[in-house]
Amino acid sequence: MPEGARLLAASTERSIAIVLLAVVVVGWAIYVFVNIRQAKSEVGSERELAPNRGNLPDDEQLEGRRLEKVQAFGVLMLLIMVLVLPVYWLLEGGRRSGAETAFSEAAANRGEGLAAEQACTDCHGADLGGARFAPVVLDIGNQFTDKDSFIINTTWEGPAIDDVFTRFDTDAESLDEVTEVRQILVYGRGVMPAWGLEGGGPLNDQQIDDLVAWLWRERISDEEAQERAAARKAAETAANPDHSEGEVLFDLHCARCHTPRWPGRGPAQLPNNGGTVEVLPGPSGAGRYGPPLNSVSLERLFPDIDDHITFIANGAADNVPFGEFARLGNYGMPGFKKVLTEEEIRAIAEYERSLDSQSQAAVGFDLLHDAEDGS
Ligand code: HEC
Ligand code: HEC
Repeated sequence: MPEGARLLAASTERSIAIVLLAVVVVGWAIYVFVNIRQAKSEVGSERELAPNRGNLPDDEQLEGRRLEKVQAFGVLMLLIMVLVLPVYWLLEGGRRSGAETAFSEAAANRGEGLAAEQACTDCHGADLGGARFAPVVLDIGNQFTDKDSFIINTTWEGPAIDDVFTRFDTDAESLDEVTEVRQILVYGRGVMPAWGLEGGGPLNDQQIDDLVAWLWRERISDEEAQERAAARKAAETAANPDHSEGEVLFDLHCARCHTPRWPGRGPAQLPNNGGTVEVLPGPSGAGRYGPPLNSVSLERLFPDIDDHITFIANGAADNVPFGEFARLGNYGMPGFKKVLTEEEIRAIAEYERSLDSQSQAAVGFDLLHDAEDGS
């Protein structure tokens, strides 16, 4: 339960408890009042007592201190019930959310075990902060050359996943509100295989839930994610002083999905003859997992740049149309409002809108060493 809902529930419980308390107190008062009025002298009290009743206390005794004692005892019991029940009730909410926490902790532990079995950290880093992994066999065929097929062994960058909730499910306040990350795990993404049975993977729903609970537990705070992004931005800016702010940020946050071969850039082996190639990224924004982004496509989709900025901030929700062309979102596009400032997002949007669709059509390939000619 989100904190707000819990407080609300607690205060609802409290008001109900107060109303119940009032009802009990008033009811008790009415009972006492009516009882005193209706009290009559005992039937047959004027006759002589039967022998078997002879040694019982007489009326005077019964209706005196003894009665008061019994009544006081009744009042005491009533007070205990009236006071203890609401207190128990008030604590109940906390007790239940305690159980919830313990439960998701157990799920997270199971998820951690599954993550070890499935070697998530091989591709996402031991600290979940991202890693470069191998081998990835890619057919980059006609993306590079005019050949139909061109197979390379290469390495690939797996994104950080300790900050995945700053991009996906950005409005989720608790584990059970997570849908997008679950979807990614079930169906896989790009180079990452599907993990869920539905997507053709090995894990059942319960196990996917456990992985999500593990990711949720391991997540870093928004502030930590912002600090990391700022540090990477400073390093990337220093390394590429001629790049605009928009281009630096695009390369850091967007290129992995929107620029061809970006996560695979760097040296790669040719499997057939042992030669080496340098995998170069395709033209910026020419499209990979995400669609091509350029002045033509974006001005058509978002004539107003502010809509473009809002889209980058929020990402694409499930089957919610976006842009002038009412494209349906499919969980693919993350939201960046938690990590980037509005000015930064504007800089990226401006950079994207400056990309030229003509030059995106051109692709390049650099052959460094070719074993066949011995160089
Ligand atoms: C073979 C390498 C590999 C393994 C193993 C792997 N992943 Fe991935 N994962 C990737 C890649 C690569 C991406 C990004 C997809 C892309 O580049 O198209 C990704 C994306 C993700 C994302 C979405 C992150 C984002 O911001 O796009 C999550 C979450 C994720 N993986 C979790 C897991 C979990 C949990 C496991 C273990 C059950 C796992 N991954 C195992 C390679 C891997
Ligand atoms: C995890 C992969 C991924 C990352 C990272 C990513 N995008 Fe996307 N993006 C997508 C996908 C997939 C779509 C298509 C969404 C859909 O159809 O639901 C998309 C769509 C878009 C669109 C709408 C274009 C269109 O034709 O639909 C824009 C604009 C965009 N992304 C900008 C960005 C920016 C800016 C960043 C970085 C700040 C970024 N994206 C990072 C995957 C990604």
